[in-house]
Amino acid sequence: MKDYPNVHILDHPLIRHKVAYLRDVNTDTKLFRDLITEVATLMTYEAFKDVPTESIKIQTPFELIDQDIVKNDSVAIVPILRAGLGMVDGVFNLFPLAKVGHIGLYRNEETHEPVEYYCKLPQNIENMVTVVLDPMLATGGSASEAITMLKKRGCKKIKLMSIIAAPEGVTRMAEDHPDVEIYVSTLDRELNENCYILPGLGDAGDRIFGTK
Ligand code: PRP
Ligand code: URA
Repeated sequence: MKDYPNVHILDHPLIRHKVAYLRDVNTDTKLFRDLITEVATLMTYEAFKDVPTESIKIQTPFELIDQDIVKNDSVAIVPILRAGLGMVDGVFNLFPLAKVGHIGLYRNEETHEPVEYYCKLPQNIENMVTVVLDPMLATGGSASEAITMLKKRGCKKIKLMSIIAAPEGVTRMAEDHPDVEIYVSTLDRELNENCYILPGLGDAGDRIFGTK
């Protein structure tokens, strides 16, 4: 895979540790959900490092100072249904006041192309930094389509957070959307014939919600 300036592979030992248990077929639904939340929290620290801030006056026990805080109403997170929902609490752990939009997409089982079924976004999202959440970046079709939908609705500064990615998905995203910062915790080897990520963790939505 080529190097892309907008792609950030985090590959942190604390994340590797948690991804090991996410991959484990014996990990139950509760632990799987908790691990997705924890990895999303760790990723938030990195992906939000240029979050908009504003200066306010704070009185310490010794001095009155100007201190930066996160700017109100400046960030929206947009989970891609269903599996992206699993990452929302992880972002809320560090960023409890983020606005939340929802985009519903599922992959057609034969073509693997995304099919849209829902979109509800916060008012004024076009003025916010918008962070799309989806634990799996496989062909990249779903994330790329979600970001196209956001751009059509006026979003200008967009990021993507995915826990596991295949090289095919990273390449598609980086080439479709070179203006979007892409944060991936773990880059896997390849896609199988059904466009699942190998070694991967299986179907993230089913493992989060216990549907299979
Ligand atoms: C999964 C996953 C991504 C998508 C990734 O969703 O959560 O949204 O596949 O694949 P892609 O990069 O090839 O588009 P799925 O379509 O299985 O829907 P679900 O989350 O409702 O199970
Ligand atoms: N969606 C998933 O949930 N897992 C994959 O490996 C690919 C797409």
